[in-house]
Amino acid sequence: MRHRILAIPVLLLTITASSATAQSTTVRPSDALAPTPPMGWNSWNKFACDVSEQLIRETADAMVASGMKDAGYQYVVIDDCWQVGRDSVGNILVDAERFPSGMKALADYLHARGLKFGVYSDAGTKTCQGRPGSRGYEYQDARTYASWGVDYLKYDWCSHGTQNAEASYRLMRDALDASGRLITFSICEWGSNKPWLWAGGIGHLWRTTGDIQDCWDCKRDWGGFGVVHILDLQVGLESYAGPGHWNDPDMLEVGNGGMTTEEYRAHFSMWAMLAAPLMAGNDLRTMTPEIRDILVNRDVIAVNQDPLGRQGRKVRDDGDTEVWAKELADGSRAVALLNRGATPAAVAVSWPEVGYTAGLEATVRDLWTHADVGKARGRYVATVPGHAAVLVRITP
Ligand code: GLA
Repeated sequence: MRHRILAIPVLLLTITASSATAQSTTVRPSDALAPTPPMGWNSWNKFACDVSEQLIRETADAMVASGMKDAGYQYVVIDDCWQVGRDSVGNILVDAERFPSGMKALADYLHARGLKFGVYSDAGTKTCQGRPGSRGYEYQDARTYASWGVDYLKYDWCSHGTQNAEASYRLMRDALDASGRLITFSICEWGSNKPWLWAGGIGHLWRTTGDIQDCWDCKRDWGGFGVVHILDLQVGLESYAGPGHWNDPDMLEVGNGGMTTEEYRAHFSMWAMLAAPLMAGNDLRTMTPEIRDILVNRDVIAVNQDPLGRQGRKVRDDGDTEVWAKELADGSRAVALLNRGATPAAVAVSWPEVGYTAGLEATVRDLWTHADVGKARGRYVATVPGHAAVLVRITP
């Protein structure tokens, strides 16, 4: 008798445990998207609402001609302001003056060049620029995007009223899955509801902060941040990132004119260390060779795109100087020696800080000069200019 009473809860527990496992291991085809952080270009940081099919076509051509496509950039994403209303049955209407050939033709143009097409919408009733959002039209919009050949959706969080964030993003994820097309899903909820806790399995990337600004350390009243402030907000989020699901510290400002070349190199270095999506945000048609060389630096991109998919972490904080380390698939480490201060400083990393024994001999390669700087045992030290980073790969 006693035995039978005990047997029921045990059976129930078994059933609950196995159904929970079944749910969490459900494999969706879209799970395979973004095994490494997405790379591409987005219109917002440079062009805001000044988007058009001509801009997108010229940007695609520049992405190919500049070598960016060969370096791994593939998505071309139109951010806010391409949409102007809905027709009588709710279909989203594209601005016909700015996109006279329509979105399908634009997608075809990109696909013919081996690139992928991205658009932007919003989980609430309106986008951040007051254009129609997707609230109540999720499945309809997802079907429309699929019919155009869309490969990537950035989904914002303005005008959300009392909506629940997780439920809102899950709804669009389900709509995209049902659309018949594989679409990379970029959650843009600014970190407001700690998306790193719930967005893996919903989106492939999720914003962790408010909007990036084209400056080293400025802040805006409405919640915009310079590069080093965004960097500070990534500490503690490392374990939530991995293949298929990435923390997104926002798009790149490299080349937009508000920072020095050295600051842009540091910005790009740190985004590589963070395993951040690399979405260029400058005018690719007119960028200088210096800026192009930052964006196509293959040694740095290899750190970002490393298949192990580890997000780098801060291993040392001495105020103005910091050391960040990222474990790579071949057992080597990428190490960033960051100087946030205005004057040059010597910054050192010791092997135990990156998980190596002190006596280990390792090759150190500078990923900006592309030169091996010799063998080192126990530590490496470099003089880092003000507002700059030295990025090295340490290989035992
Ligand atoms: C928000 C997002 C930005 C951009 C704008 C467009 O601010 O965070 O990245 O998409 O909206 O209006």
